[in-house]
Formats: sequence, C-alpha cells, structure tokens
Amino acid sequence: MSIKELLQEKTNVDEVTLRGWVRTFRSNRFIALNDGSTLANLQVVVDFEHTPEETLKRITTGAAIEVKGKVVESQGKGQSIEVQATEITILGDCNPDEYPIQPKKHSLEFLREQAHLRVRTNAFGAIMRVRSTLAYAVHKYFQDNGFFYVNTPIITGSDAEGAGEMFRVTTLDPKNPPLTETGEVDYKKDFFGRETNLTVSGQLEGETFAMSLGKIYTFGPTFRAENSNTSRHLAEFWMIEPEMAFYDLIDNMNLAEDFIKYVLKYTLEVRREDIEFLNQRFLEEEKTKPQTERSEMSLIEKLEFVIHNDFKRVSYTEAVEILKNCNHNKKKKFQYLIDEWGVDLQSEHERYLVEKHFGCPVILYDYPAKIKAFYMRLNEDGKTVRAMDILFPGIGEIVGGSQREERYDVLKQKIEDLGMDEQTLWWYLELRKFGTAVHSGFGLGFERLVLFTTGMTNIRDVIPYPRTPQSAEF
Ligand code: 4AD
Repeated sequence: MSIKELLQEKTNVDEVTLRGWVRTFRSNRFIALNDGSTLANLQVVVDFEHTPEETLKRITTGAAIEVKGKVVESQGKGQSIEVQATEITILGDCNPDEYPIQPKKHSLEFLREQAHLRVRTNAFGAIMRVRSTLAYAVHKYFQDNGFFYVNTPIITGSDAEGAGEMFRVTTLDPKNPPLTETGEVDYKKDFFGRETNLTVSGQLEGETFAMSLGKIYTFGPTFRAENSNTSRHLAEFWMIEPEMAFYDLIDNMNLAEDFIKYVLKYTLEVRREDIEFLNQRFLEEEKTKPQTERSEMSLIEKLEFVIHNDFKRVSYTEAVEILKNCNHNKKKKFQYLIDEWGVDLQSEHERYLVEKHFGCPVILYDYPAKIKAFYMRLNEDGKTVRAMDILFPGIGEIVGGSQREERYDVLKQKIEDLGMDEQTLWWYLELRKFGTAVHSGFGLGFERLVLFTTGMTNIRDVIPYPRTPQSAEF
C-alpha cells in the first residue's frame, strides 16, 4: 500500500506494510517516511527498546526501508494517523556522510547537479507530480473533445520551422565522411540516404493527419539547437501541437484559451496539496525580492486569475503602437527600442505588454509575414500573416500558432522566395493540391506550462533532465 492510499483510507486499515525512503529519523523513535506517492510524509513510531541497535543505526536519511505496523491515531501534531512499527527491514542503506540530499534547504543550482536525487525533495516531488497530472490533463482534454493522438516522427528530413536550428542525425564517421566529387559530405551514403535531423516540431506531419482525421494533437519531444542559454529555453522540450481542419485563426484562439484554462483547472483540483506547497514556496521566494519586483498575486491566485479571466486579444500593429508610445520605450529602458512597425518583439516587450500594460494573458495576432514561419496564411493586406502567440505573465510566449496557408500557389511562391528546399516539402505542398481547406493549429511548450503552474522560474527545474547548451549530464 502507498502512503497516499493509506491516508485516503485511514479508517479502514489496521495493519499495513509500507515501503519508502527515510526523510528524517529523530530521537531514535520517529521516522518521517516518504514513498513519493504524495507530498506528505508518514510518521512511523519505532519501538526502540525492542528494535536491534544495528537496525536503528541503519535508519538514516535516504535509506530505503520496509515497515510493518499498526495504524493508530497520532498523538502528535501535524498528522492525523501514524504507524507503530512492529517490524522494520532495511532494504537499502544510505550513508549519511555521502548522501547529498540532507534534511535542509538546498539551492536549486546545487540540486540541478544532483538531478538523479533531487526528486526526493519536497519541491521536486511536487513539481514532477504536477507535471504528470498536467500531461494527463492534456490528453484528457483532447480525447474528451474528439481529437486523435498522433505520433509524428522524431527523425525528419525537413525543417518544420524553417529556422535551421536542428540537430543533425547521422551514422557517418565524423573523422572520415564519404565525399562527393565536389568535395562535400555525401549524405547519399548516410543511413537514410539523405540529410536528416531531430524534429523541431511535428506540425507539418500533424497537418497531414488533420486533413484526414479532422482534429488531431501531438505530444512529443522536440529539439532546437538554438544557442539560447536562458531560463525559458531548452534544447530538448516537449510540445503539444493540436491541428484542426476547417478551423480559422479565431477558432484556433478559442481552442487554445479553453484548453489552457481546462488543464490548469484540472491540475489545480487534482494536485491541490502539491500546488499549495509550491504556493508557500513561491511566497517565500517573493519575500527575498525587493518590494517593487514582488508579484501582487500568490501562485494560486495567478492560476485562478488565468482560469477565470478572458485573455486579451491584440493585433501586432496595436501592440507596436502601445510599445512605441509607452514611457518605458521613450525613456529608453528597453534593451531593444521599438521604433517601427515590422520589428520582432523580444521577451522584454512581451512581458511589458502582459505584466505592465494589460495585467493578464495576451493573444497577439496578425504578425508581419517577414518575422514568422513560411507556412502561415497571408492576410489580404499582403504583409501580415494569420499568426498568434499567447503571452503569459512571468513566462512570455507560451503558445505559438497560426492559420495555415492552404493555397497551393501562394505557399509554393513563399517557399521559393525564402530559398527553401521545395523537394523535401513536396508532400506538404501536395496537401494543398488534393482537397485543400482552411486549417489551423498551435504549439504549446509543455515545460513553459509546467513553469507557470508550479511558480518556478527556471525551465531547468521543471523537466527531469534538462538539455541546454554545454549540458547533457545524466
Ligand atoms: O513558436 P514555436 O516555434 O511554434 C512551432 O513550433 C509551431 N510549429 C507550433 C504549431 O503551430 N504547431 O514553438 C511553440 C512553443 C512556444 O510558444 C514555446 O512555448 C515552446 O514551443 N518553445 C520552447 N520551449 C522550451 N524551449 C525552447 N527552446 C522552445 N522553443 C519553443
């Protein structure tokens, strides 16, 4: 039986067998036992007079033990029940002098170096349980709403975002690759007979399934070789990409907003205990900041706010006007000043809009074509595309999506103009030849969602084993 099950069924159980890891052992009598099933530790009371000295010595922080005992009402504060041990077996010793996770507060930086053990702390246990529930909520939302789950390929021959930030996949010998007559690497001799890479997005293949099954979603790993060493970027992250036939950009926005609200609400209900713990942690972190930088809301208030308020929808053109005329820009407080229409927005601008100007999540739409990917539907003005980004407080961009260019000629021209390799995209173009239709989709970075839900500030702390530039330990 797990500790979670025991705590839920406390009235019906007299005798239990539990297995878990010792968090603390005080006064040779009280074990705080955790088995990961829940944030709560269970208090195990040891009858030290009848327990061999040798066993008592081996009950150390981190040790794996099995406890058999009686469930009784607790005499002490902080828990309703406890277990009076009748038998304790040491399953795995843990030398307290070597064990890095001591019963005290460790810095997040230190714990990143101990990623194989950090999930044994309260904070990381809570974060990873929240992550699991969010993933379940994602599947539940789509499955309950008629979407099909599609596994798009991880190894691909096309650059879905056209940004060239890909990890190459090859079996060629790096020291002695086969060469063509002109002296270039001969990828015809490579495993797949062509250049291949890890996918940056499952969207293009996702579109082909939407144009057959109607509504689909992907939820898988994606890879970006962008050299962004920030608290919001990973080289390997998980993305959720729904794609819907016959949806225009407004339908797409409505879906994205409804979806995000659902998964947050579901997770807040199911993971209340963990989120309350993270809320406390968040409030303590906030106290260490100067008054002016503190969040006005607690973590739970932020989640409730997003669940219960409409996202503000603003066109890129309106947003640029706001930014151009704001005091922050006039006083040259942005690193990148906004002086003209057409510039790409940096995260400082996105955060200004969300945190200072609107004070709520914002959906920015109709971006300049020049700063967006090749597949987005060109508007009648000929210079903007039906793109949307959803910006969140404290996070910046959490969703990127668009209505797709469904017109064969327009898309073909775009691919040519950008000098992209039409040959690798032949099948994507054919979708526009055989029964094309309006369709749309978006991508949500799963770790950014976990960041928001847990109130953490560094993306490295919400994925089990972060991959970032110069770092792929574990
Ligand atoms: O805006 P992006 O690049 O959009 C796409 O990949 C589209 N194909 C999605 C679609 O329309 N189906 O990425 C989508 C989201 C971003 O909003 C962000 O949340 C996340 O993916 N993301 C990252 N998350 C962590 N680390 C990175 N390096 C990320 N790059 C993007």
